[in-house]
Amino acid sequence: MYCKILKNNYSEVQVGSSVGTLGFVGTGTIAAAMIEGLALSGSEPIIVSPRNADIAADLAARFANVTIAADNQAVVDASDMVVLSVRPQIADEVLRPLNFRPDQHVLSLIATISLEYLHEVTAPAATVTRAVPLPPVARGQGPTAVFPPNARVKALYDRLGVAIELGDESEFDVFSAATATMSSYFAFARTVTAWMEANGVDAAKAHAFMAQMLEGLGSASPAAPERSFAQLADEYQTRGGINEQVFRAITRDGVLPDLDAALDGVLARLRAGRGITD
Ligand SMILES: NC(=O)c1ccc[n+]([C@@H]2O[C@H](COP(=O)([O-])OP(=O)(O)OC[C@H]3O[C@@H](n4cnc5c(N)ncnc54)[C@H](OP(=O)(O)O)[C@@H]3O)[C@@H](O)[C@H]2O)c1
Repeated sequence: MYCKILKNNYSEVQVGSSVGTLGFVGTGTIAAAMIEGLALSGSEPIIVSPRNADIAADLAARFANVTIAADNQAVVDASDMVVLSVRPQIADEVLRPLNFRPDQHVLSLIATISLEYLHEVTAPAATVTRAVPLPPVARGQGPTAVFPPNARVKALYDRLGVAIELGDESEFDVFSAATATMSSYFAFARTVTAWMEANGVDAAKAHAFMAQMLEGLGSASPAAPERSFAQLADEYQTRGGINEQVFRAITRDGVLPDLDAALDGVLARLRAGRGITD
């Protein structure tokens, strides 16, 4: 079944339910976000594992195409594409006992678990792909890094925003590390609104102001993709003005040094999880 949707208000794209039956092993935050986003543009059968019980029940109640399986093996048995969405700490104990079929496609969202390990633990499943979707997929606005390139997975994540296909697992690590900045984005907003409140501003007005300012700034880059972030940083400050004052105070040569170092730390952690210590 094919239908047309408007994507991010910019262009019209064709979408289809070509993944067959989609099963989720691990029904938590990111599984729910994907299922919500998929409902915007399709109605393929979706089977979820019974944990987390509340999230699974909520999804099944909201979406007619979502059913809850008796256990993880029942998810695998019923699915064409099996999405692995449990936490890394329990991945091995959850995956080892499961039996996959040769014709199945395994899509792992689990951070730090390598493609090599996934092939071993899900054999004889023929196709394995890694992806790192983000919560905005629930609104069809997620950029999703995918490794290795795969047409079905690309089509899936293009429905949920934009798929970015990568041919190298080390590059995939870098994209995964970059996703670790999401919470700090909101902490940036919180620092500004808390400072406004400390200076006597009403909290609701500060929140409304910051939310709208960030939405406007966030759409500036997709609207002008030819401009680099460095160019935008330059354009948004007047020489000798107040933006330049804050920019100079919190960056060094236009880079936030603590953030730069924190990303190095995340990348090292992700690579150590794959047994790489360079
Ligand atoms: N959140 C994100 O933005 C994001 C983005 C990209 C990738 N990921 C990756 O996606 C995975 C899930 O992350 P998440 O944020 O969605 O975590 P989460 O909300 O904790 O979801 C994990 C789910 O797994 C369930 N679970 C626990 N034991 C299980 C078992 N034996 N069998 C089946 N399910 C079981 C948990 O149920 P209970 O609540 O009952 O324990 C929970 O609902 C992680 O590997 C993470 O690295 C997350």
